[in-house]
Amino acid sequence: MRDPIPGRTCPISYRYGAHALQGPPQLHVDTLWIAGGLYGNTLALQALLDGYAAEPGSKALVFNGDFHWFDVDPREYELVNETVLAFHATRGNVETELANPGEQAGCGCAYPDWVGDATVEHSNHIVERLRATARQQPGLDRLAGLPMHFVARVGEARVGIVHGDAESLAGWGFSQEALSFPEGYAAAQAALTSAGVDVFASSHTCLPVMQSFANGVVVNNGASGMPNFSGETCGVVTRISVEPGDGALYGAQRSGVSIEAVPLRYDARAWQTRFLAQWPPGSSAHRSYWERMTNGPRYSRKQALRVARSVPASAGR
Ligand SMILES: [Fe+2]
Repeated sequence: MRDPIPGRTCPISYRYGAHALQGPPQLHVDTLWIAGGLYGNTLALQALLDGYAAEPGSKALVFNGDFHWFDVDPREYELVNETVLAFHATRGNVETELANPGEQAGCGCAYPDWVGDATVEHSNHIVERLRATARQQPGLDRLAGLPMHFVARVGEARVGIVHGDAESLAGWGFSQEALSFPEGYAAAQAALTSAGVDVFASSHTCLPVMQSFANGVVVNNGASGMPNFSGETCGVVTRISVEPGDGALYGAQRSGVSIEAVPLRYDARAWQTRFLAQWPPGSSAHRSYWERMTNGPRYSRKQALRVARSVPASAGR
């Protein structure tokens, strides 16, 4: 057997299984915002706080992991840490590998084969540099103590909040790629039933997708702190509410709630300046992310919104 490759493997401690989501909800609100993948973007964070503050009624905001990433500047790191930890939060692989570095885990991303080796290598370098910042700051024990999953109730809908997928912290089962395949679609549909939730909200895989099923919806916000669509610089967060909001990019309905992809329109130029100050040309993060930061990924809103389809009875078992 080959030795594990840092950044490609999923540590055993990341695994929990869909049944872990079966417990009672930890909060009950009319409106829930879920922000995964902030990646240390402090301008997107401010846009998020402003948008959330304007939301009326009973509400909650959950950061579902990878709120740190590019924030190697100690002041940026501290701002992200202190702000996020004032809300509900779950840990992503980034926070886990900062607080409790796993042997051979690298960045903890558990990258699948379709992600190239250079990206994996860059990510391992990024987490090493970020770890050097984090070790100089207080609060690593608070990151270590964050849960891996969270259950909320919005109106009558049960929402399972994870960083990766129904099985593990860094799972790619809720990626737009996996959901494209019949096996992946069927597995996600089965996971909704196993967890007893109407909606799964995830992040981790960096591209957004909102996939409806006969028995629920899987919504992945992509990145709240990076561009998500070609030619657009906005971050995306997930909003689930008993009332539809204004200005969603796209949405779906389930169990009496609206599930929406909400754009975070931050000052992209100002963020690029902050990014360059931390990750100049030639650095790992610049090589992996600058093109996306300025022009967006090769992916469209149209690709992100997906309707339910029929599943062969044998699939996903
Ligand atoms: Fe992640």
